[in-house]
Amino acid sequence: MNFDDKFIEQLKSKNDIVEVVSAYCNLEQKGGAYWACCPLPGHMEKTPSFCVNQVGQFYKCFGCGRGGDVIRFIQEVESLEFLEAVKLLCDRVGLEMPTFSNVDEQKSKENKQKKERYLAILKDTAHFYVNNLTEEKAPEYIDYLNKRQIDRKTQRAFGIGASLDYTSLPKYLLEKGYSYEDMLSAGVVSYNKERGEYSDFLGKRLIIPIIDSFKNVIAFGGRVLGKTDFAKYKNTSETSLFIKNQCLYNINNLKQAKRVGGKLDFAIMVEGYMDVISLYTAGFDNVVASMGTSLTQMQAKILKRYTDNVVISYDGDAAGQNATIRGLEILRDAGLNVKVIKLPDGLDPDDVIKKHGKSAYEKLISEAKLLIDYKLDVLKSRFDTSTTSGRREFVDSAIKVIREVEKSFEQEELLKQLSQMSGIAYEYLRRDLEKLPNKTVNTQKTQVKEKEKTVNDGTVLAERFVLCALLFKKPYAQISDIESIEFSSWVREETANYIFDKTDNEEDLVPSMLFDIIGSDGAKELNEILTSGDLIFNTDAENRYYNDCVIKLVTDSLNNDINALRSMHDNEMDTKKRRSIVQIIQSKTIKLQNIKTRRIK
Ligand code: UTP
Ligand code: MN
Repeated sequence: MNFDDKFIEQLKSKNDIVEVVSAYCNLEQKGGAYWACCPLPGHMEKTPSFCVNQVGQFYKCFGCGRGGDVIRFIQEVESLEFLEAVKLLCDRVGLEMPTFSNVDEQKSKENKQKKERYLAILKDTAHFYVNNLTEEKAPEYIDYLNKRQIDRKTQRAFGIGASLDYTSLPKYLLEKGYSYEDMLSAGVVSYNKERGEYSDFLGKRLIIPIIDSFKNVIAFGGRVLGKTDFAKYKNTSETSLFIKNQCLYNINNLKQAKRVGGKLDFAIMVEGYMDVISLYTAGFDNVVASMGTSLTQMQAKILKRYTDNVVISYDGDAAGQNATIRGLEILRDAGLNVKVIKLPDGLDPDDVIKKHGKSAYEKLISEAKLLIDYKLDVLKSRFDTSTTSGRREFVDSAIKVIREVEKSFEQEELLKQLSQMSGIAYEYLRRDLEKLPNKTVNTQKTQVKEKEKTVNDGTVLAERFVLCALLFKKPYAQISDIESIEFSSWVREETANYIFDKTDNEEDLVPSMLFDIIGSDGAKELNEILTSGDLIFNTDAENRYYNDCVIKLVTDSLNNDINALRSMHDNEMDTKKRRSIVQIIQSKTIKLQNIKTRRIK
């Protein structure tokens, strides 16, 4: 910073952030903060997720993720460089702009040069790896590629290479005149403190370069050949050029396809590098990979530039199914028409091509399902539909899903499908659907509002706090506590799903990731959830309060279930079915008695 700190301090104290921001949007004071719909360019929203904190003099948009101080705000909102923003704020309060050297200009020039150096390192590194991939130098890699049927042409098209050891790359780059510092910053080399050595970040791995839409190599993925107990794939570290969850693998080829043939009819979204490579070899030039992580809004936005239709083709395991549903919703919210390919269990797209050939995959594409149909399938697989109670539970959840559908002819269609899937007569299903409250509610968002009206504040607060305690891994909070709770808003439901998924997969909970999963429409509620422990955590009351919340929520949900079952019982003619309903009511009643005597753990 070439300005004197005192000057910046003065500038900020004269330009109160709330006053400055008020000129660009309607701030509404709520709790300790001010809220508005995000005024920053490129982010349009209907519900406020942009928040200004007057005490801290900063802003943050939970929708688009941008945030900072008053100067940063002016830069963003007016699309100005730092200096220009300072000038604007000086003029606003009649402060004189200090004279200064052209240090800042110098800085931005330096940044640009830095970026160019990193790109050059990445490019040279890519060549280095490719040159390693010969029969003489790397027979086991060639062998591996042959086994996977990745021919020379495909290897070249994707720039596949090999790292043979840990030391050659840094040595090579040093000889080319790059500094260790730059190698580290470009992400390709790491430093071992104990040994005082620089080493290849992806040493002894098969190398797949990650290329951006301008054909720059921005990172690498490396795969170990054999089975190991450490990660099968590893990426070079995140840098200013490579932010993994904002990239799509193979976007360069997608761009090329669009350039040749215009906006694509559709794109296929897969999980892994090898799926892309395999599909490309089979003749599909419209494939991208999300590289294993769950999809983000940014990735969806990028994809929307190339096509309006996407077919998602994730692995068929349970984790894959959850990821698919969330991914679908993110893509849909970005304005894409989305379909899902149902892969045979345990196979990924690469396996399907290898085992059953291109036409089999084409057939799967033509049979791809709409989100709602897919949800029914996934739901069904979660219940044991060979038993009466399992079938009933499946039908109950399916009807709730069907209720969300806007068009009545689609509802009709789905009810028919459900009737086929469950063996329960259509008329019964229709009756159950009509019995549900809020039947007229259509879109997800209005549904939230309606739903939230029907539950009282106590329920909302309890749901938030329980989720917050789980997210922040409070020792007294157990995931089993929320298993039977039906959350009363989709944001809280999604948050619970996230907790279930991560726990199932033994992965760490990263609360901030939820902003990506939930998106801007839910950012405000998410913020409420994440801050709901602020006043209670680390006080004597936290454990007891948590316990009270769980008891309340579980009791409510059991009571709801029991009431629903009672009316189901009254309408049921079949004696056998009536008996099984009574059994379920009894077991729920016992649970209800048990929860009241729940002890603090
Ligand atoms: P998969 O495990 O499905 O990989 O992970 P794959 O593409 O089928 O790999 P092969 O066929 O065994 O070679 C999908 C993607 O998730 C990321 C990678 O981007 C991978 O392509 N991933 C996976 C990682 O980043 N690290 C890992 O340890 C595993
Ligand atoms: Mn695979």
